[in-house]
Amino acid sequence: MHLTKDEERMLDGEEGYAVKKSMEILTALGDIYGAERLIKVGSVQVAGVSYHNLGDAGLEFLNELAKDGRVRVLTTLNPAGMDLEDWRKLGIDDEFAHKQNLVIEAFRKMGIIISCTCTPYLIGNLPIYGEHVAWSESSAVTFANSVIGAKTNREGGPSALAAAFVGKTPCYGLHLDENRVPETRFHVATKLRKISDWGALGYSIGKSAENKIPYISGIEDASLDELKSFCASVVTYGSKPLFYMEGITPAAENQQPPSEKIIVESEDIEAAYQSINDEFSAVDLVCIGCPHCSIKEIAEIAELLKNREVSANTQLWVACSRSMKQIADARSYTDTIERAGGRFACDTCMAVAPLKGRFRTVATTSAKGCYYSRHNNMMTRMGSLTECIDAAVKGKWS
Ligand code: F3S
Repeated sequence: MHLTKDEERMLDGEEGYAVKKSMEILTALGDIYGAERLIKVGSVQVAGVSYHNLGDAGLEFLNELAKDGRVRVLTTLNPAGMDLEDWRKLGIDDEFAHKQNLVIEAFRKMGIIISCTCTPYLIGNLPIYGEHVAWSESSAVTFANSVIGAKTNREGGPSALAAAFVGKTPCYGLHLDENRVPETRFHVATKLRKISDWGALGYSIGKSAENKIPYISGIEDASLDELKSFCASVVTYGSKPLFYMEGITPAAENQQPPSEKIIVESEDIEAAYQSINDEFSAVDLVCIGCPHCSIKEIAEIAELLKNREVSANTQLWVACSRSMKQIADARSYTDTIERAGGRFACDTCMAVAPLKGRFRTVATTSAKGCYYSRHNNMMTRMGSLTECIDAAVKGKWS
């Protein structure tokens, strides 16, 4: 890979340890994937924040980098393993909280915004169309590439951090237009009626697209919340963090759809529900906010909980960024939700919090949430927001 004089100096260690290490990571990646050069990035989203996933080795790596590493571009953080303020309320123990706080301190020292959300685009890390960025966390990467039309590979935590310290990333993969061409086509011939249908659609398309970029037609309109749900699901059950949706996503009109198309019908959506759902009645946890809730979703939850109470046998978690909760506080949604017995899970989520062994069953609106809950040995049930809130109030799925 060709390096400029400045980049050579960075690699030689003239700008310190963190920049040198970062250049080593970026040049190694560039060489593996055949990049010709590094390109500037407008922002970075760093995943790998939960102590649950990092462990002591990860914490040590971050502390080393934090000694002299300072980010050069807008850099935000993915969810951590706990609510950074109200962790006790979510059943997190002191030891875990201590270690998680050390992780956060390392990131803070690097100049990273402690946003702890997988929807950075809702709170100010919003690239423009065509902008190169270096994001990690699959749903956010898919949203950036597809809904916004920015360009990013699916970075790992270390390569995203490296890009933040250097302000650049190797130019390969989805940074190049020739790698962003749709490779398979789907026509959706059924109506999507509730938020969880978008997760089911993502499951169905993701599974059959495998590692191909899908071009999707037949969808007449989509809200931001529906698109973020679809992004999370299609990349979880498929693999490419990019799709085109005719008439909906901005870059679709510049692409030539593949001629052969797979028709997605109501039976496919039903089959997705059947694969995702387990049979159970008592619901231990209802979790909304995968990806993290928008203010519109929080408003809907508050409306559904008015004059109701969450069952004593069930916990209701509303996962969102702290900034989003501050807006919810100002609009009194927080009051309504907490008075009904719901809890906010800011800064964290059902996949990265240490939940294994704490709950047997979970109900959620999110197909991705179900995927990770099964990894945490929980039985899963996906449904509409109304169905999930009803389950929280009754303590059972009906
Ligand atoms: Fe976000 Fe966690 Fe879901 S990172 S997309 S809330 S699994």
